[in-house]
Amino acid sequence: MFNPEEFIENSLKEIRKAVGDSRVISACSGGVDSTVATYLVHKAVGKQLLAVFVDDGLRREGEPEFVVKTLKRLGIKTKFIDAKEEFFAVFKGKTDAEEKRKAFREKFYSTLGKAAKEEKIAFIVQGTIKADVIETVQGIKSQHNVLSQIGINPERYGYKIIEPLRELFKPDVRKVARSLKLPPEISERMPFPGPALSLRVLGEVTPNKTAIVRKATQIVEEETQQLGTFQNFAVLHNDKATGIKNGKRLYGNIITVRIVESEDAVTAKAKQVPPEILKKISTRITQEIPSVVRCLYDLTDKPPATIEFE
Ligand code: XMP
Repeated sequence: MFNPEEFIENSLKEIRKAVGDSRVISACSGGVDSTVATYLVHKAVGKQLLAVFVDDGLRREGEPEFVVKTLKRLGIKTKFIDAKEEFFAVFKGKTDAEEKRKAFREKFYSTLGKAAKEEKIAFIVQGTIKADVIETVQGIKSQHNVLSQIGINPERYGYKIIEPLRELFKPDVRKVARSLKLPPEISERMPFPGPALSLRVLGEVTPNKTAIVRKATQIVEEETQQLGTFQNFAVLHNDKATGIKNGKRLYGNIITVRIVESEDAVTAKAKQVPPEILKKISTRITQEIPSVVRCLYDLTDKPPATIEFE
Protein backbone atom coordinates (compact mmCIF):
# COMPACT_ATOMS: atom_id res chain seq x y z
CA MET A 1 0.00 0.00 0.00
CA PHE A 2 1.30 3.44 -0.95
CA ASN A 3 2.03 5.59 2.09
CA PRO A 4 2.00 9.31 1.16
CA GLU A 5 3.60 10.47 4.43
CA GLU A 6 6.53 8.09 3.97
CA PHE A 7 6.85 9.17 0.33
CA ILE A 8 6.94 12.86 1.35
CA GLU A 9 9.57 12.24 4.03
CA ASN A 10 11.87 10.33 1.65
CA SER A 11 11.28 12.75 -1.15
CA LEU A 12 12.24 15.80 0.96
CA LYS A 13 15.50 14.06 1.93
CA GLU A 14 16.28 13.14 -1.68
CA ILE A 15 15.55 16.65 -2.95
CA ARG A 16 17.77 18.25 -0.28
CA LYS A 17 20.58 15.83 -1.13
CA ALA A 18 20.31 16.43 -4.90
CA VAL A 19 20.03 20.21 -4.67
CA GLY A 20 22.47 21.08 -1.87
CA ASP A 21 22.87 24.86 -1.68
CA SER A 22 21.91 25.48 -5.30
CA ARG A 23 18.88 27.41 -6.44
CA VAL A 24 16.03 25.65 -8.20
CA ILE A 25 13.44 26.76 -10.71
CA SER A 26 10.08 25.04 -11.07
CA ALA A 27 7.77 25.42 -14.01
CA CYS A 28 4.33 25.13 -12.49
CA SER A 29 1.26 24.91 -14.74
CA GLY A 30 -1.16 24.60 -11.80
CA GLY A 31 -1.92 20.96 -12.53
CA VAL A 32 -1.76 18.51 -9.65
CA ASP A 33 1.55 16.97 -10.81
CA SER A 34 3.56 20.15 -11.26
CA THR A 35 2.06 21.82 -8.18
CA VAL A 36 2.86 18.83 -5.94
CA ALA A 37 6.40 18.67 -7.34
CA THR A 38 6.82 22.42 -6.79
CA TYR A 39 5.43 22.29 -3.28
CA LEU A 40 7.67 19.36 -2.28
CA VAL A 41 10.72 21.32 -3.41
CA HIS A 42 9.41 24.40 -1.58
CA LYS A 43 9.13 22.32 1.60
CA ALA A 44 12.57 20.82 1.05
CA VAL A 45 14.62 23.90 0.18
CA GLY A 46 12.34 26.91 0.82
CA LYS A 47 13.85 30.16 -0.43
CA GLN A 48 16.18 28.38 -2.87
CA LEU A 49 13.11 27.78 -5.06
CA LEU A 50 11.67 30.11 -7.69
CA ALA A 51 8.42 28.94 -9.29
CA VAL A 52 7.65 30.20 -12.76
CA PHE A 53 4.39 30.23 -14.62
CA VAL A 54 4.92 30.37 -18.37
CA ASP A 55 1.90 31.90 -20.08
CA ASP A 56 2.01 30.23 -23.48
CA GLY A 57 -1.41 31.54 -24.54
CA LEU A 58 -2.75 27.97 -24.48
CA ARG A 59 -4.20 27.79 -20.97
CA ARG A 60 -7.85 27.51 -19.97
CA GLU A 61 -9.98 30.56 -19.17
CA GLY A 62 -8.72 32.31 -16.02
CA GLU A 63 -5.98 29.74 -15.44
CA PRO A 64 -2.88 31.99 -15.46
CA GLU A 65 -4.38 34.25 -12.76
CA PHE A 66 -5.55 31.25 -10.69
CA VAL A 67 -2.15 29.53 -10.74
CA VAL A 68 -0.12 32.59 -9.82
CA LYS A 69 -2.53 33.44 -7.01
CA THR A 70 -2.45 29.86 -5.66
CA LEU A 71 1.36 29.67 -5.67
CA LYS A 72 1.67 33.01 -3.91
CA ARG A 73 -0.90 31.92 -1.34
CA LEU A 74 1.23 28.83 -0.66
CA GLY A 75 4.12 31.15 0.16
CA ILE A 76 6.13 30.27 -2.96
CA LYS A 77 8.15 32.96 -4.73
CA THR A 78 6.65 33.10 -8.23
CA LYS A 79 7.57 34.71 -11.52
CA PHE A 80 5.09 35.19 -14.38
CA ILE A 81 6.52 34.92 -17.89
CA ASP A 82 4.35 36.18 -20.75
CA ALA A 83 5.48 34.15 -23.77
CA LYS A 84 2.19 34.02 -25.69
CA GLU A 85 3.45 35.58 -28.91
CA GLU A 86 6.59 33.44 -28.97
CA PHE A 87 4.60 30.23 -28.61
CA PHE A 88 2.11 31.10 -31.37
CA ALA A 89 5.06 31.98 -33.61
CA VAL A 90 6.55 28.48 -33.34
CA PHE A 91 3.24 26.84 -34.28
CA LYS A 92 3.06 28.74 -37.60
CA GLY A 93 2.67 26.28 -40.47
CA LYS A 94 2.81 23.18 -38.25
CA THR A 95 -0.07 20.72 -38.60
CA ASP A 96 1.38 17.35 -37.56
CA ALA A 97 0.65 16.36 -33.92
CA GLU A 98 4.16 15.24 -33.04
CA GLU A 99 5.72 18.22 -34.83
CA LYS A 100 3.50 20.50 -32.76
CA ARG A 101 4.52 18.71 -29.55
CA LYS A 102 8.16 19.05 -30.50
CA ALA A 103 7.75 22.76 -31.26
CA PHE A 104 6.01 23.27 -27.93
CA ARG A 105 8.69 21.33 -26.05
CA GLU A 106 11.55 23.28 -27.64
CA LYS A 107 9.92 26.62 -26.88
CA PHE A 108 8.99 25.56 -23.36
CA TYR A 109 12.50 24.42 -22.46
CA SER A 110 14.25 27.32 -24.11
CA THR A 111 11.94 29.75 -22.24
CA LEU A 112 12.72 27.99 -18.97
CA GLY A 113 16.41 27.80 -19.84
CA LYS A 114 16.47 31.56 -20.42
CA ALA A 115 14.77 32.19 -17.07
CA ALA A 116 17.14 29.78 -15.30
CA LYS A 117 20.15 31.52 -16.84
CA GLU A 118 18.90 34.99 -15.88
CA GLU A 119 18.37 33.78 -12.32
CA LYS A 120 21.63 31.74 -12.31
CA ILE A 121 19.80 28.52 -11.51
CA ALA A 122 21.14 25.02 -12.19
CA PHE A 123 18.15 22.78 -11.45
CA ILE A 124 14.69 22.55 -12.89
CA VAL A 125 11.83 20.73 -11.17
CA GLN A 126 9.33 18.81 -13.24
CA GLY A 127 6.10 17.02 -12.36
CA THR A 128 6.74 14.04 -14.64
CA ILE A 129 4.75 10.99 -13.48
CA LYS A 130 5.06 7.31 -14.32
CA ALA A 131 2.35 7.28 -17.03
CA ASP A 132 4.23 10.03 -18.94
CA VAL A 133 7.39 7.93 -18.91
CA ILE A 134 5.63 4.69 -19.93
CA GLU A 135 3.78 6.23 -22.89
CA THR A 136 6.89 7.97 -24.16
CA VAL A 137 9.06 4.87 -23.87
CA GLN A 138 6.39 2.76 -25.62
CA GLY A 139 6.40 5.28 -28.47
CA ILE A 140 2.70 6.14 -28.08
CA LYS A 141 3.47 9.84 -27.88
CA SER A 142 6.32 11.99 -26.72
CA GLN A 143 5.04 13.59 -23.52
CA HIS A 144 6.57 17.04 -23.53
CA ASN A 145 8.19 16.67 -20.12
CA VAL A 146 10.00 13.39 -20.68
CA LEU A 147 13.42 14.16 -22.02
CA SER A 148 16.08 11.61 -21.15
CA GLN A 149 13.89 8.70 -22.30
CA ILE A 150 13.75 10.13 -25.81
CA GLY A 151 17.46 10.75 -25.94
CA ILE A 152 17.50 14.46 -25.10
CA ASN A 153 20.07 15.49 -22.54
CA PRO A 154 18.41 18.29 -20.54
CA GLU A 155 21.84 19.82 -19.91
CA ARG A 156 21.69 20.94 -23.54
CA TYR A 157 19.15 23.51 -22.32
CA GLY A 158 21.57 24.51 -19.57
CA TYR A 159 20.30 22.73 -16.48
CA LYS A 160 19.69 19.47 -14.62
CA ILE A 161 16.23 18.08 -14.00
CA ILE A 162 14.63 16.92 -10.74
CA GLU A 163 11.50 14.75 -11.05
CA PRO A 164 10.22 13.88 -7.56
CA LEU A 165 7.05 12.13 -8.87
CA ARG A 166 8.48 9.95 -11.62
CA GLU A 167 7.64 6.71 -9.81
CA LEU A 168 4.02 7.63 -9.03
CA PHE A 169 0.74 7.22 -10.90
CA LYS A 170 -1.91 9.96 -10.76
CA PRO A 171 -4.02 8.50 -7.87
CA ASP A 172 -0.92 8.43 -5.64
CA VAL A 173 0.00 11.99 -6.65
CA ARG A 174 -3.46 13.05 -5.46
CA LYS A 175 -2.87 11.22 -2.15
CA VAL A 176 0.39 13.14 -1.72
CA ALA A 177 -1.41 16.41 -2.55
CA ARG A 178 -4.08 15.71 0.10
CA SER A 179 -1.46 14.74 2.63
CA LEU A 180 0.38 18.03 1.92
CA LYS A 181 -2.96 19.79 2.55
CA LEU A 182 -2.95 21.48 -0.83
CA PRO A 183 -6.36 23.03 -1.64
CA PRO A 184 -8.92 20.70 -3.31
CA GLU A 185 -8.83 22.87 -6.48
CA ILE A 186 -5.31 21.47 -6.84
CA SER A 187 -5.47 17.96 -5.32
CA GLU A 188 -8.65 17.07 -7.24
CA ARG A 189 -7.81 19.09 -10.36
CA MET A 190 -8.68 17.58 -13.70
CA PRO A 191 -5.61 16.50 -15.68
CA PHE A 192 -4.63 18.90 -18.42
CA PRO A 193 -1.81 18.17 -20.87
CA GLY A 194 1.42 20.18 -20.77
CA PRO A 195 1.00 21.44 -24.36
CA ALA A 196 -2.49 22.46 -23.25
CA LEU A 197 -5.01 23.66 -25.84
CA SER A 198 -2.46 23.20 -28.67
CA LEU A 199 -3.41 19.49 -28.67
CA ARG A 200 -7.08 20.41 -28.90
CA VAL A 201 -6.80 22.74 -31.86
CA LEU A 202 -6.39 20.17 -34.61
CA GLY A 203 -4.01 21.33 -37.32
CA GLU A 204 -2.23 24.69 -37.12
CA VAL A 205 -2.58 26.48 -33.77
CA THR A 206 -3.54 30.16 -34.02
CA PRO A 207 -4.72 32.65 -31.37
CA ASN A 208 -8.17 32.76 -32.99
CA LYS A 209 -8.64 28.96 -33.06
CA THR A 210 -7.33 28.72 -29.50
CA ALA A 211 -9.89 31.28 -28.33
CA ILE A 212 -12.69 29.15 -29.87
CA VAL A 213 -11.59 25.95 -28.15
CA ARG A 214 -10.98 27.82 -24.88
CA LYS A 215 -14.58 29.04 -24.83
CA ALA A 216 -15.92 25.57 -25.77
CA THR A 217 -13.78 24.02 -23.01
CA GLN A 218 -15.20 26.44 -20.47
CA ILE A 219 -18.75 25.49 -21.47
CA VAL A 220 -18.02 21.73 -21.30
CA GLU A 221 -16.39 22.10 -17.87
CA GLU A 222 -19.26 24.19 -16.51
CA GLU A 223 -21.90 21.73 -17.70
CA THR A 224 -20.11 18.55 -16.56
CA GLN A 225 -18.71 19.49 -13.15
CA GLN A 226 -21.14 17.18 -11.36
CA LEU A 227 -20.14 14.10 -13.39
CA GLY A 228 -16.90 13.57 -11.46
CA THR A 229 -15.22 12.20 -14.59
CA PHE A 230 -11.48 12.02 -15.23
CA GLN A 231 -11.25 14.48 -18.14
CA ASN A 232 -13.91 16.63 -19.83
CA PHE A 233 -12.96 18.82 -22.76
CA ALA A 234 -13.60 20.20 -26.24
CA VAL A 235 -11.63 19.76 -29.46
CA LEU A 236 -11.71 22.10 -32.47
CA HIS A 237 -11.56 20.30 -35.81
CA ASN A 238 -9.35 21.33 -38.67
CA ASP A 239 -12.14 20.99 -41.23
CA LYS A 240 -15.51 22.66 -41.55
CA ALA A 241 -19.16 21.73 -42.01
CA THR A 242 -22.28 23.36 -43.34
CA GLY A 243 -24.73 24.91 -40.93
CA ILE A 244 -27.26 27.72 -40.59
CA LYS A 245 -26.68 30.83 -38.47
CA ASN A 246 -29.07 33.79 -38.41
CA GLY A 247 -31.08 32.24 -41.22
CA LYS A 248 -28.05 32.06 -43.53
CA ARG A 249 -25.83 29.20 -44.67
CA LEU A 250 -22.51 29.16 -42.80
CA TYR A 251 -19.61 26.89 -43.56
CA GLY A 252 -18.41 26.83 -39.96
CA ASN A 253 -16.39 25.13 -37.26
CA ILE A 254 -16.89 21.69 -35.73
CA ILE A 255 -16.35 20.97 -32.03
CA THR A 256 -16.10 17.49 -30.53
CA VAL A 257 -16.82 16.98 -26.85
CA ARG A 258 -14.85 14.27 -25.07
CA ILE A 259 -15.67 13.06 -21.55
CA VAL A 260 -13.79 10.06 -20.20
CA GLU A 261 -13.56 7.97 -17.07
CA SER A 262 -10.13 6.67 -16.12
CA GLU A 263 -7.94 5.88 -13.14
CA ASP A 264 -4.50 6.66 -14.47
CA ALA A 265 -4.96 7.76 -18.13
CA VAL A 266 -3.40 4.53 -19.39
CA THR A 267 -6.85 3.23 -20.38
CA ALA A 268 -10.13 5.17 -20.46
CA LYS A 269 -13.84 4.73 -21.13
CA ALA A 270 -16.02 7.26 -22.95
CA LYS A 271 -18.63 8.36 -20.43
CA GLN A 272 -22.30 7.63 -21.09
CA VAL A 273 -23.43 11.17 -20.38
CA PRO A 274 -27.15 11.88 -19.78
CA PRO A 275 -28.60 13.18 -23.08
CA GLU A 276 -29.97 16.37 -21.51
CA ILE A 277 -26.43 17.39 -20.49
CA LEU A 278 -25.10 16.72 -23.99
CA LYS A 279 -27.99 18.70 -25.48
CA LYS A 280 -27.29 21.67 -23.20
CA ILE A 281 -23.58 21.60 -24.12
CA SER A 282 -24.37 21.48 -27.84
CA THR A 283 -26.90 24.32 -27.57
CA ARG A 284 -24.54 26.54 -25.58
CA ILE A 285 -21.50 25.87 -27.77
CA THR A 286 -23.35 26.60 -31.03
CA GLN A 287 -25.13 29.65 -29.58
CA GLU A 288 -22.26 31.20 -27.65
CA ILE A 289 -19.52 30.66 -30.26
CA PRO A 290 -20.62 32.33 -33.50
CA SER A 291 -18.35 30.31 -35.85
CA VAL A 292 -19.39 26.86 -34.56
CA VAL A 293 -22.18 25.14 -36.49
CA ARG A 294 -21.79 21.56 -35.31
CA CYS A 295 -21.09 19.80 -32.02
CA LEU A 296 -20.20 16.08 -31.82
CA TYR A 297 -19.68 13.61 -28.96
CA ASP A 298 -16.82 11.10 -29.02
CA LEU A 299 -17.92 7.55 -28.06
CA THR A 300 -14.49 5.89 -28.33
CA ASP A 301 -12.64 4.22 -25.45
CA LYS A 302 -8.84 4.17 -25.00
CA PRO A 303 -7.70 1.93 -26.63
CA PRO A 304 -8.23 2.08 -29.58
CA ALA A 305 -8.38 5.91 -29.29
CA THR A 306 -6.14 7.96 -27.02
CA ILE A 307 -7.71 10.46 -24.63
CA GLU A 308 -6.50 13.49 -26.59
CA PHE A 309 -7.06 13.73 -30.36
CA GLU A 310 -3.40 14.46 -31.03
P1 XMP B 1 -3.51 10.24 -24.23
O1 XMP B 1 -4.02 11.22 -25.22
O2 XMP B 1 -2.13 9.75 -24.55
O3 XMP B 1 -3.38 11.02 -22.87
O4 XMP B 1 -4.45 9.08 -23.99
C1 XMP B 1 -3.05 10.43 -21.64
C2 XMP B 1 -3.01 11.54 -20.62
O5 XMP B 1 -1.88 12.37 -20.88
C3 XMP B 1 -2.30 13.68 -21.25
N1 XMP B 1 -1.43 14.05 -22.37
C4 XMP B 1 -0.33 14.78 -22.23
N2 XMP B 1 0.21 15.35 -21.15
N3 XMP B 1 1.97 16.22 -22.49
C5 XMP B 1 1.35 16.08 -21.27
O6 XMP B 1 1.86 16.62 -20.29
C6 XMP B 1 1.48 15.67 -23.64
O7 XMP B 1 2.05 15.82 -24.71
C7 XMP B 1 0.27 14.91 -23.49
N4 XMP B 1 -0.50 14.21 -24.37
C8 XMP B 1 -1.53 13.70 -23.64
C9 XMP B 1 -3.78 13.57 -21.59
O8 XMP B 1 -4.46 14.79 -21.36
C10 XMP B 1 -4.23 12.45 -20.67
O9 XMP B 1 -4.48 12.91 -19.35
